[in-house]
Amino acid sequence: MRVLSGIQPSGKLHIGNYFGMMKPALALQQKHQVYLFIANYHALTTVHDANIMRQGTLDVALDFLACGLDPHKTVFYRQSDVPEITELTWLLSVTTPMGLLERCHSYKDKLAKGIAASHALFSYPVLMTADILAVQSAIVPVGKDQKQHLEVARDVALKFNNQYKKVFKIPEPMIQEEVAVVPGIDGQKMSKSYDNTIEIFGSKKQTRKAIMRIVTDSKTLEEPKDPDNCNIFALYKLFANSEECKKLESHYRTGGMGYGNAKKELVTKFEEHFAPMRTRREELANNINHVESILQDGAARAKKVIIPTLTAARSAVGLE
Ligand code: ADP
Ligand code: TRP
Repeated sequence: MRVLSGIQPSGKLHIGNYFGMMKPALALQQKHQVYLFIANYHALTTVHDANIMRQGTLDVALDFLACGLDPHKTVFYRQSDVPEITELTWLLSVTTPMGLLERCHSYKDKLAKGIAASHALFSYPVLMTADILAVQSAIVPVGKDQKQHLEVARDVALKFNNQYKKVFKIPEPMIQEEVAVVPGIDGQKMSKSYDNTIEIFGSKKQTRKAIMRIVTDSKTLEEPKDPDNCNIFALYKLFANSEECKKLESHYRTGGMGYGNAKKELVTKFEEHFAPMRTRREELANNINHVESILQDGAARAKKVIIPTLTAARSAVGLE
């Protein structure tokens, strides 16, 4: 089955992104034909500095490759290397009712956050529709916040197919509701907007510092503690196996172990998990040409599907 997803290059990835999105997306590559792209046309709606855009795009490529994206299995590309997607966006704009876009809450949420209203920000869901329809994707795994955009994609595809000719496959969303929210060091949802993250690829010192700042209650070393209401334990569970979890859990319940020690255990687990990926990332960062060739190859493979779709759409509307 063909599966497509995109990630915007707008900020350093944290372990909420890793456990909530990257790991589940990477698991799909074993069973499905996965298309994963770096949504830099999308990021232009909020990132207005060319150097930050270039660096952010490269960072996402390095992060995914270091975390286990297999470029032989997954078609991994930079959106802007396939400009055909923007032409398709225009053809789809013609069958997109204004009302559909006016109802999108993501646009309103962005305005509420203080992002300047632009035509691109408003028509973002049409570009996203083109991303999806261009590769004739059957399944689109997304977080709950993107569900409405998927509905736009389905509506626009149906409308185009009815008005002209059946060109597009109607995509199904795969909403990842069951992915637990990873808490930040202050206990709220981990998010770059709350400044409470633990970055995947921060330096060892940064990681340690962030973990040491995790908020806990003020129980003394001797007192028994509740693992079910502890931010350290919630994060530890993401890394440790069930035996390790049981062991730490019993230390919590018996007392005699301070939160400082639990934080040290978490630092160790974090290191065990991410150290090999950090090394891999450094190797890749020293071989940008290789990374570039992976992205070019991905774009060429994506175009094999996207160009025939665009040609069919051009013909359906009477441009060919
Ligand atoms: P942020 O909140 O840091 O801006 P994004 O909104 O860019 O993160 O999220 C990118 C992806 O990572 C989405 O698929 C989202 O569902 C996932 N994600 C982000 N934060 C978390 C979290 N704390 N727990 C689980 N998944 C998360
Ligand atoms: N809008 C998505 C987000 O902000 C990123 C994205 C762009 C996407 N195009 C897509 C996701 C197509 C899935 C399919 O997270």
